[in-house]
Parts: sequence; C-alpha cells; structure tokens
Amino acid sequence: MKFNDKTFLKEKNKILMFYPYISSKSVKNVGKTIKSRWIGQGPKVELLEKKFSNKFLNNKYALATGSGTDALHLSYILSKIKKDDEVIVPIFTCTATNIPLLYIGAKIVFADIDPNSMNICTKSVEKLITKKTKAVVCVHYGGLPCDMSELKRISKKHNLILIEDVAQAIGAKYKNKNVGTFGNFSTFSFQAIKHITTGDGGLLTVKNKDDYIKAKRIRWFGIDRDKKYKGTWSNDIFEIGYKYQMTDISATLGLDSLSEINDIIKYRRKLYFRYLQNFSKNSKIKVIDDFNNNKFHAAWLITIAIENKDYLQKKLNSKNIEANQVHFRNDKYTIFKKFAKNKKFKNMDYLEDKYLVLPLHHKLKIRDIDHICNIVNKNT
Ligand SMILES: Cc1ncc(COP(=O)(O)O)c(C=O)c1O
Repeated sequence: MKFNDKTFLKEKNKILMFYPYISSKSVKNVGKTIKSRWIGQGPKVELLEKKFSNKFLNNKYALATGSGTDALHLSYILSKIKKDDEVIVPIFTCTATNIPLLYIGAKIVFADIDPNSMNICTKSVEKLITKKTKAVVCVHYGGLPCDMSELKRISKKHNLILIEDVAQAIGAKYKNKNVGTFGNFSTFSFQAIKHITTGDGGLLTVKNKDDYIKAKRIRWFGIDRDKKYKGTWSNDIFEIGYKYQMTDISATLGLDSLSEINDIIKYRRKLYFRYLQNFSKNSKIKVIDDFNNNKFHAAWLITIAIENKDYLQKKLNSKNIEANQVHFRNDKYTIFKKFAKNKKFKNMDYLEDKYLVLPLHHKLKIRDIDHICNIVNKNT
C-alpha cells in the first residue's frame, strides 16, 4: 500500500485538512460490483458487516447503513427514546450526533466538555440526570476514547442506555478494548473523510438478537427482507421504517479499506505523534488529549488550543495550509439553542475561541507535519 503520492501537494498547491482514503484495489473491485447483479444492498453489505464485527466488535451484531447519521437515528429508536424523554449529549460534537434526536422530539440535555479531551465531561453528566433521563450519548472526539469506565458506572447506576458515537474513532481502544463495545448501541461513520470511507455510509452495532431483527426491519421500510424475497404476502409493515441500508457499491469500498485499516491507523498515529513531538517544547500550545495510558488514540484529528487562534489560523491559511475548527458547539445552531437557554458550559466557554484543528491524513508526509509545526511554533 502506498499512502503518499508526489503530485498531491503540487496538484492542490495547498496542504488540505482532509483527503479521502480509497484503497488502490477499489477501482477494480468497484468495477466488478457495478457489473454484477448486486449494486444495491446485497452480499457485499453482509460481508462487510461480518468482517467489521469480527474485527472491532467481538462478533456482536452489526448493520451497515447509508450513513452514520442513519445509524444514530436507528440507535435512538432502538433505545425507545420517545418525545420529551431527556437524552444527555455532549455540547461539542458533529451536529449529526444530535439532529436525529430532534426527529423524535426528544429533549436534548447538553453536558459540558472535559477541557483536556473535549469529550463529554462525566461529572457534568452525573449532575444532569433526572427521572426523565433515558440515555447518554458519548462521542470519542477526534479518535480519543471517552472515560468509558465512568460512563458505564453512571449509566448502570441510573439505569440509562449508553450510546457510543464512534464516527471518529474506529480502532480506538479503552483499557485495551475497542470503543464501540462498551455501550448498549454504537454507531460508526464511513463518510468521505473518515478513516475508511464508502463514499457515504455507516454502521450500527447492537447487542441482542431481538434488537438486531428489529434494526434490520426498520433499516428497510419496516419490511422483513427475507420474508419479502419469498414472494408471498408475509411482509406487513407494523412499524415505521426508513431507507437506511448500505449498497454493495459502497460496501466494496468499505471491504477494501477495512483490509488495510491497521496500516491506515498506524500511519495516522505516526503523523499525530510527530505533531506531539514538534509541540512538546511550546508551552503556548495545549494539544487536546488527556494522555491517559488507558486510551489508544485513533488519530482522526489533531486539535490544539492556543490563545491567538484567529491569528494563527489566518497565518496558516496565508501559507496555503488549511486549518479550521471543524465542529462548533451545538448550542450555536438555532435548532439547538432552546436546549441551552440559561445554562452555563464553563469548559466549552473557555475553549470556544481557542481550539484549532490541523491537517492530518494519509497523503501527508512527516516533512509536511514539520512544515506546519514550524509555522505554528513561530506564530504562537
Ligand atoms: C461525531 C460524528 N457523529 C456522526 C457523524 C455522522 O456521520 P455521517 O456523516 O456518516 O452521517 C459524524 C460525521 O460526519 C461525526 O463526526
């Protein structure tokens, strides 16, 4: 496998934040799939589910979906979250974590972030629990695992459903266990710029057979596909379903990248640790990481916090290096504002104007990271 190509920087004349990873095998393999009978949901989807589950989920049930957002919506339905139920979520995440809760009419309860990791603050979670709380959603931001022992303890104590949004953290580990195996449900994303991509795609994991059967049904209109294929009337729809399945074209991309995932993560971590090394003597920079030995970082993002964020961002941009914040606190968006009214988020308030995400992807070389760090160090 060859990660870098010489033309990349010249071609774009810019160091980009992200770049999709497509396995070199995929051009041929997607071609084969396109020429086959199955281009929609078929055997490749099932194979991807099996291989993914085998690799990351100790063979728990896995369902491939059209997106990570689809998987999140399904997980909220399976959690039996209903209108006005309270769900505790991090205030800082991709909006996709929280938007599906609005489809249901649930009451979003924002928890503050931990200032070191920007993951959900477990102390904040515990304070927000009421009789109406149904579930807690945690997001392993940038590839760094949340404090899963604490989140498990809290959810067990208060009888809450724990959902892991693993969109950014495939392959990350907490106490040597893959993230995505701790919660009642977990969701992954294979959107264009994630560790592995299927163009757009996602995956839901569930822990018991009944939920699996239901998830399969509501992923596809509410119809049991196996029964439908028998071609007789045995496919009544008794609950509302969606069209949330993955296609075999996407699954082909996913299978090829999945076979290379160890190398993909290894290379991203190499770049991540080069950033850490280059910033180690700069006291003005705080890397967003809690450097906890129990955590294995999947290195999807490198985020730093600095006082002069706007200045540095402009400086980097002027040198043809992309840098931006990627995600924003969710209460900035009109659709979420009412859930944060009259509430304080001390750590989020503190970091809001300070954090900045720097480029990290398979096309970058160590010397690109050194070049970026040189500019960052000179301008902080
Ligand atoms: C934390 C998080 N959750 C959910 C999603 C949604 O995934 P998708 O884009 O596959 O719907 C993303 C990324 O897009 C994400 O970063």
